[in-house]
Amino acid sequence: MFDYQIKENSLQDKIILVTGAGDGIGKQAALTYASLGATVILLGKTVEKLENVYDEIVAQGSPEPAIIPLDLKGATKKNYQDMASTIVGQFGRLDGALLNASILGELTPFETIHEQIWNDVMQVNVTAQFLLAQALLPAFKLAKHASLAFTSSGVGNKGRAFWGAYSISKFATEGMMQVIADEYDESNLRCNAINPGATNTPMRNSAYPAEDKDTIATPKDIMPLYVYLMSDDSIDVNGQRINAQ
Ligand SMILES: NC(=O)c1ccc[n+]([C@@H]2O[C@H](COP(=O)([O-])OP(=O)(O)OC[C@H]3O[C@@H](n4cnc5c(N)ncnc54)[C@H](OP(=O)(O)O)[C@@H]3O)[C@@H](O)[C@H]2O)c1
Repeated sequence: MFDYQIKENSLQDKIILVTGAGDGIGKQAALTYASLGATVILLGKTVEKLENVYDEIVAQGSPEPAIIPLDLKGATKKNYQDMASTIVGQFGRLDGALLNASILGELTPFETIHEQIWNDVMQVNVTAQFLLAQALLPAFKLAKHASLAFTSSGVGNKGRAFWGAYSISKFATEGMMQVIADEYDESNLRCNAINPGATNTPMRNSAYPAEDKDTIATPKDIMPLYVYLMSDDSIDVNGQRINAQ
């Protein structure tokens, strides 16, 4: 695992947006950030899942979170701008965003990638990330230090047979991270990408249904990197692709 000791209250008073906060890694990140004192903004597609995470955060005695139900597949530039304005109106700034939500599409030979699946994967994993990151920049500028973390994959800088649209979308994610990091170098905003590594979640289970789930990391195991990138300990880290495992 990424070698970092999580410190109590290390995210105290931070405002952090987590996409895909209803399930898998995003859910664990939201619970962990909140437990360290952050006010977490839970963005996701399925409202019921977000409400369950909201309840868990309140039950653990953490700051009350906010919920933004949004389907990244259909959302428009205006939806993201309105969302960013609401965040600034309610919280005055944004200290961090974990862009975690994405879809796998289908694992298939390149020859048989369906155009519709390709379009959906690119919409959710690339275009939505672009619109979201762009819309959030004004809110980041209002923070003393701000952290934008994209989520890549083991197939995000080395292509792998049958991982088609998903793999290609993660290359784009890493490219986007590098462009932003270079432009905002020397600013209050840092931008990095996380490679979670094999982690026991619904997405992993759909890609490897026969795998023994006890042999891979849990979302909780990989939290040190997720916390590090949102904490002030990573203020000088920019433009990096970092392995959580
Ligand atoms: N798990 C791994 O082994 C692994 C390895 C490498 C990289 N990653 C990356 O890590 C990130 C999290 O993966 P995960 O395994 O936790 O995935 P997951 O279990 O499938 O969870 C993904 C989350 O994203 C949300 N989401 C999906 N489509 C959305 C949409 N159109 N609009 C809004 N939210 C949407 C889902 O919401 P709903 O539940 O409401 O659909 C869910 O909460 C992804 O970027 C993935 O590519 C994971």
